[in-house]
Amino acid sequence: MEAYKVQQHKYDVIVVGAGGAGLRATFGLAEKGLKAACITKVFPTRSHTVAAQGGISAALGNMGEDDWRFHFYDTIKGSDWLGDQDAIEYMCREAIPSIIELEHYGVPFSRTEEGKIYQRPFGGMTTHYGKGTAQRTCAAADRTGHAILHTLYQQALAHDATFFIEYFATDLIFDEEGVCRGVLALDMNEGTLHVFRGHAVVLATGGYGRAYFSATSAHTCTGDGGGMVLRAGLALQDMEFVQFHPTGIYGSGCLITEGVRGEGGYLTNSNGERFMERYAPNAKDLASRDVVSRAMTMEIREGRGVGEHKDHIHINLMHLGAGVIHERLPGIAESARIFAGVDVTKEPIPVIPTVHYNMGGIPTNYHGEVVQKRGDNVDAVVPGLFAIGEAACVSVHGANRLGSNSLLDLVVFGRAVAHRCAEIVKPGAPHKDLPASALDQALGRFDSLRYAKGSLPTAKIRAEMQRTMQSDAAVFRTGESLKEGCDKISKVYDSFKDVGVSDRSLVWNSDLIETLELSNLLGQAVATMYSAEQRPESRGAHAREDFPERDDANWQKHTLVSVDDHGKANFDFRPVHMYTMTSDVEVVPPKKRVY
Ligand code: FUM
Repeated sequence: MEAYKVQQHKYDVIVVGAGGAGLRATFGLAEKGLKAACITKVFPTRSHTVAAQGGISAALGNMGEDDWRFHFYDTIKGSDWLGDQDAIEYMCREAIPSIIELEHYGVPFSRTEEGKIYQRPFGGMTTHYGKGTAQRTCAAADRTGHAILHTLYQQALAHDATFFIEYFATDLIFDEEGVCRGVLALDMNEGTLHVFRGHAVVLATGGYGRAYFSATSAHTCTGDGGGMVLRAGLALQDMEFVQFHPTGIYGSGCLITEGVRGEGGYLTNSNGERFMERYAPNAKDLASRDVVSRAMTMEIREGRGVGEHKDHIHINLMHLGAGVIHERLPGIAESARIFAGVDVTKEPIPVIPTVHYNMGGIPTNYHGEVVQKRGDNVDAVVPGLFAIGEAACVSVHGANRLGSNSLLDLVVFGRAVAHRCAEIVKPGAPHKDLPASALDQALGRFDSLRYAKGSLPTAKIRAEMQRTMQSDAAVFRTGESLKEGCDKISKVYDSFKDVGVSDRSLVWNSDLIETLELSNLLGQAVATMYSAEQRPESRGAHAREDFPERDDANWQKHTLVSVDDHGKANFDFRPVHMYTMTSDVEVVPPKKRVY
C-alpha cells in the first residue's frame, strides 16, 4: 500500500454534506458556538436540494384553515402507517417555527396579497383529518430548494462555519468502543487525504437515487453516507421503500413539480381522460405519490399511454394561462421547453413515474442520533454518529413520503441535530487519541480501489446495476421479479471484485471517484432489492402484485438490513413507534388508506 500522508483537522462537530440538512445543521451548530466544519463533495449551492421545486410544508394557515395536527394525521396516512408517530409529531409541530425562522433568515418566499408566505396544495395534504384540502406547501415560485439552499449557505458563512469544498468523505473512523470519532476524506482539488476529527459526525449525504437508471436525482446522489454506514457493519432501515415521483419528464427524468397539480394541472391518458378520478375519487391528481404513480403505470399497461409507444402520460397546464405559469411555475416552463421541446402554454408535457426519493436510510431518532438494535434495546444510540435528511430514516415518511415533507425534514432535523449537539458536545473539548491503526481499514480500502486492476470498467458495472434496479425494483413488484432481481444484483455486486480503475488520479472527475461512489451505491442496491423481496405485503411505495394488501398483523414493522463483505443481506426488525411525544395528539391507528 502506498504510504499516504494524512492531514489532521479537529473540530467540535463535522457535518458531511452541504444540502439543506447539512447546511441547516452547520449553521445551527456555529450559531450555538460550536466549531463546525462542513465537508462537501460539491460546492454547497450545487447540492441536490437546489433542484427541489414545489415547496416546504408547514401548517401556517396563511391560505385557509390549517393545524399541525392535520399535518400529523396526513403524514401518518401518507406513510401507510410505517412512520414513527413520535417523530412525525416532532416534525409537524416544529415545522411552524422552522419556517418562520427560514423567513427571518431571508428565504425569498412567494407572497399572498397581504404579504404572507404563499402556500399551495400538495398531494395527500388535507384539513380535518382527510375531509378538506389544505394549502400547506410554502413556496418560492417553483424554485423553493434553490432559495432555501442559498439562504442557509449565507447564514452558515455569516456564522463563521468552515467549509471544505470538493472533499469526498470515504469512510467513518470509530474507536475500539464503537464511538464514531471522525471521517477520512479526499480533497479532490489538491489530491490529498485528510482526517476530520469531531465529537459528533453528522451524515447529511442525501439519497442513493443513482442506483437507478432514470431518476430525478442529480448524478452526485450516490448515497455516500449509507455506503459508509454499511461498511461500518451497521444496519440501514426500510430500504425497500423507493418513491417514484409521478411526473418526471419522459426521456430525461427531469422533475416536473407536484406544484403543477397543486396549481390546477392534471394528468390525461391517450383518450384525453382525467383518469385519476377513477383511482382517487376525492383527491384525484392530488392523491399521494405512490397512488398516482401506480395509476399512471396501470393506464400505460392497459394500453392507454400516450406517444408513439403508448408508454407515458400527459400533464396539462395550458388552461392555467401564461400569467399563473410565469408567476408560479417559471422553472417548469423552462424545463419543459429545454427537456421536452414543449411550450406549456400550448401543449401538455410528456411524463412518466421516475425514481425520486429514498424513504429508507440510516436509522435515527428525532434528535438525529443514529440508532441500532442492540439486544432488547431496539433504539440504542451509536455514540458520536448522527444522520439527517434523505440519508436518514427517522422515520417520518414510513413507506411513502408526502410531497413537500422532504424540505421540511431537512430543516427540522438539521436544526434538531444542532440542538442536540449543543446539549452533549462541550465547545473546544479535547479529542481522544486514536490508536495508530485507526485508519488502516479505511486507507487500505481506498488504496485497493485506487489500484484495482480488474477487467471491468466502473461504468459497465454501474450500468448493469442501474438496469437491474430499474427493471426489478420498480413501481410494481412480484416475488418472481424480485427473486430474479436479487440474483442479478448479487452478480453485479460480485463483479465489483473485478473492477479496473483506469484513471487513478485523486482529483474530482477521475474514474477513482466514480468507483468510490459506485461502491457506496452497490451496497444500497443490494439492501433495497433483498429488503423488497423479503416483505410479502403492499405498503406505500412497495407494491407487490402477489401480495396486494397491507398486512399489519405481521408487517407493520421496520426492516433493518446490513450487508456483509460478501454482499449478503442480513435482516432484523424494529417495531413502529405507535406512540406520540405528548398528549397534544393521539396515536392514529391503522385503517384502510383511500384518497
Ligand atoms: O414535486 C416536487 O416539487 C417535489 C417535492 C418533494 O419531493 O417534496
